[in-house]
Amino acid sequence: MGYSVTTPIFYVNAAPHLGHAYSTIVADVLARHHRQRGDDVFFLTGTDEHGEPVANVAAERGITPQELVDENAPRFQAMGPVVEASNDFFVRTSDPRHKAAVQEILTRVKDNGYVYEGSYEGWYCPKCADFKTESEIAEGNTCPIHGIPLSRESETNWFFRLSAFQEQLEQLYADRPDWVVPQARRNEALAFIKGGLQDVSLSRSAISWGVEVPWDPEHVFYVWWDALLNYVTALRFGREGQDLSESHWPAVHVIGKDILKFHTIYWPALLMAAGLEVPRRVLVGGFLLVDGAKMSKSRGNVLDPFAAIEAYGADAVRFYLLREVGFGQDGSVSLDGLKLRYETELANDLGNLASRSIAMVRRYRDGQASDVAVDPEIAAAFDGLDAQVAALLDDGQISQALEAIWERVRRLNRFVEERAPWALAKAEKNDGADPAALDVVLRTLIEGVRVLGVLLHPWLPTSTGTLLDALGAPVLAWDGARLGAGAAGEVGELAPLFPKDRAAA
Ligand code: ME8
Ligand code: MG
Repeated sequence: MGYSVTTPIFYVNAAPHLGHAYSTIVADVLARHHRQRGDDVFFLTGTDEHGEPVANVAAERGITPQELVDENAPRFQAMGPVVEASNDFFVRTSDPRHKAAVQEILTRVKDNGYVYEGSYEGWYCPKCADFKTESEIAEGNTCPIHGIPLSRESETNWFFRLSAFQEQLEQLYADRPDWVVPQARRNEALAFIKGGLQDVSLSRSAISWGVEVPWDPEHVFYVWWDALLNYVTALRFGREGQDLSESHWPAVHVIGKDILKFHTIYWPALLMAAGLEVPRRVLVGGFLLVDGAKMSKSRGNVLDPFAAIEAYGADAVRFYLLREVGFGQDGSVSLDGLKLRYETELANDLGNLASRSIAMVRRYRDGQASDVAVDPEIAAAFDGLDAQVAALLDDGQISQALEAIWERVRRLNRFVEERAPWALAKAEKNDGADPAALDVVLRTLIEGVRVLGVLLHPWLPTSTGTLLDALGAPVLAWDGARLGAGAAGEVGELAPLFPKDRAAA
């Protein structure tokens, strides 16, 4: 089955920060999970290279927009591998294939009767590239997202008849109550729709950095339409020699809450106007905060993903962000917080569990756990976990899925303490006790750790790979996510998955 997941495409007006990496990691968890389930995954990310956000920064720096995008796009492209993103393609909106497809689709929207020439006056934020409605304007005529003063702009240009989709959008929200998650964001979007939709600009003439309007070359398309369309244009050329438009649309979108209106109102309306299906789901994340304020290039309070990963490794940063900040909520992040979770949860809870389990099998059973049934209490604790994790991820409950798995990490740690395998080994050796008791404990631990490795793969791709290799079970397929599905094999040596000296550095 085709499964597509996307990140927002990033403005290339500055360097990537951890807030950008966050959307990429969330989408990557979904992509990896669906590959485990055997889906034909297309995971798309990229850069948004047009419009004022880019043109203005280029002007400030005294370089051309092209020079700016050529300098910065590669930095975003480089972020992918560093956070271990498994994206299948990286789209750049300056790609001529994208531009041609944008022109074709928007011409179709015009031919379908949803475009007209008109004029407009309103309050505009150049950093959002957005005209704000009354309800969106913050105190003192400022942008609620960027905190900068809005400018009064009037323009004559091409308009998209958004108002024509009032009823269809209300119907979409009624028919598919979980189309946008979490609920709070869905309600926010729906309230905006119910407030009455006004038509919006399709083109701009005040700026020339963009995709030319084919029927009026003095205009370029308003950057948001050009940007949103990446999600469908890239399907035409993102996989060599194939057109994925049929097999891989609609997609699941992962976005931040600041771009809710565009993805949950403008975008489905545009798709309807073009005769295309609306997205499958829109999963809306909150903001990463630093000392209580949104991490952003405008505020200059950003954490550098490259430096954090250099210190703790990509797995730890992925894990930290998704565990610390409940998906959909805002949450503060810091390097101290990263260090703490690294030491307590990764090194102690998971790392020690894996090392001890493997070390005991090597020590007490020469590396070969017996092929006996697992402990029934642990079997019960793991029963249905695979289905639960899959359902939570399908529902956009990324943090809850991780917590469900982590509950079992803690459960297995308690199991070690309860059964005290070292005491069982001593009793075997000194008093000739029946080896069956220790066999069950060791088999349960090895099998439990293997299942955790399979389940945690989307969050911790490198360390779970190392772990599963040491267990002689390097198989990620989802039917191996059940306790008891693994054969008792020979275990090899395992170096600490999350070494303490790394955290101390
Ligand atoms: O908005 N915490 O690009 P962008 C969480 N080009 N997410 C954050 C964040 C933070 N502190 N800072 C930024 C754009 N983001 C458009 C998108 S999509 C067709 C076009 C997220 O580079 C932000 O929420 O300003 C947004 O979803 C994404 O990074 C891209 O931001
Ligand atoms: Mg932004």
